[in-house]
Amino acid sequence: MPVPIRSGTPKKPSEMMRLFMTTFIGIIFGFFLGISFPTLSLSKMNLPSGLFPSIDLTYIEDKYSGLSKQALFNAWSSLKGNKEASPLLPRYNETEIWVPTNPRGAERLPPGIVASESDFYLRRLWGLPSEDLTIQPRYLVTFTVGYDQKKNIDAAVKKFSENFTIVLFHYDGRTTEWDEFEWSKRTVHISAHKQTKWWYAKRFLHPDIVAPYDYIFLWDEDLGVEHFDAEKYIKLVRKHGLEISQPGLDPDRGTTWAMTKRRDGIEVHKDTEERPGWCTDPHLPPCAAFVEIMATVFSRDAWRCVWHMIQNDLVHGWGLDFAMRKCVEPAHEKIGVVDAQWIIHQGVPSLGSQVTSSQYSI
Ligand SMILES: *[C@@H]1O[C@H](CO)[C@@H](O)[C@H](O)[C@H]1NC(C)=O
Ligand SMILES: *[C@@H]1O[C@H](CO)[C@@H](O)[C@H](O)[C@H]1NC(C)=O
Repeated sequence: MPVPIRSGTPKKPSEMMRLFMTTFIGIIFGFFLGISFPTLSLSKMNLPSGLFPSIDLTYIEDKYSGLSKQALFNAWSSLKGNKEASPLLPRYNETEIWVPTNPRGAERLPPGIVASESDFYLRRLWGLPSEDLTIQPRYLVTFTVGYDQKKNIDAAVKKFSENFTIVLFHYDGRTTEWDEFEWSKRTVHISAHKQTKWWYAKRFLHPDIVAPYDYIFLWDEDLGVEHFDAEKYIKLVRKHGLEISQPGLDPDRGTTWAMTKRRDGIEVHKDTEERPGWCTDPHLPPCAAFVEIMATVFSRDAWRCVWHMIQNDLVHGWGLDFAMRKCVEPAHEKIGVVDAQWIIHQGVPSLGSQVTSSQYSI
């Protein structure tokens, strides 16, 4: 005789009865619980006052006009009750807030809730936001890339420690392919078809967005970094007060300008001799106050200015290298080339690698 299989057989009647009774009692209990709090409303809810330290709910109600204005106002009033005691908190006219020092368009907001700057830090979706970042990178590196240059970019990215936020601008629409690299998950990927680095820079590197970063690297994808160390580079740039800089270029690979050629045995240089007749003034480009735009590094302040100089229709960046000096003063001391950390311009023709030579623009 086969042994009957027990699993899947209906439960015994007494179990069914117990289940039914439990459910029924639960429903009755819930019903009574409900009718004993008939007047629970937002105004009676005990909102944690720390959550909205200085938000005036009369302004929020514009946004959530579906909610009862009275309820919101009551909630706000009870919150305010706790705050009234503190003489340190600024007092605002309940019906009219106007703070002219707020960013344009945000004058109606209490200054306490205005966040005018941001960053590229990736956040977790759980836990306390204050614990999200174990390291707060102070430098930003961007590359404008196509997937065909993955080997080069992989080598370059590995030169930048955890102190650098990496942002890749993809001009070929291929972003997920980069996940083969371990660092891809820590990287911000921005994709838009067939644009050059100035297009991305203007749209995604607004000075208020990159404000936490001391230095911003705006690099092409075809740079050889065998002789480059990012942390040492930053040290030299700080030491010599360079607001706009680039690593020296290997002189054996066809470079156009004397200024950006790497020199042996020194840390940085800030001027050069060009061919006779090329420089009207030894303090002006291309003899000084000049770097190219293929591997430029900006200080936060310099970038705030240069960003404004990038015209919205600027494609190749022609002319920008000659104009950047307007952003720092005195330019011939604050723009320079770092010789001790240098790169090789491989000159791979691709969409992302900008036509760097300004000779077309003069
Ligand atoms: C608050 O602002 C309104 C509108 O500007 C004004 O009419 C009112 O007198 C102000 N109240 C106080 C206490 O300043
Ligand atoms: C990152 O920056 C900190 C602070 O400047 C420094 O102490 C540390 O050595 C840097 N990390 C690397 C890998 O260089």
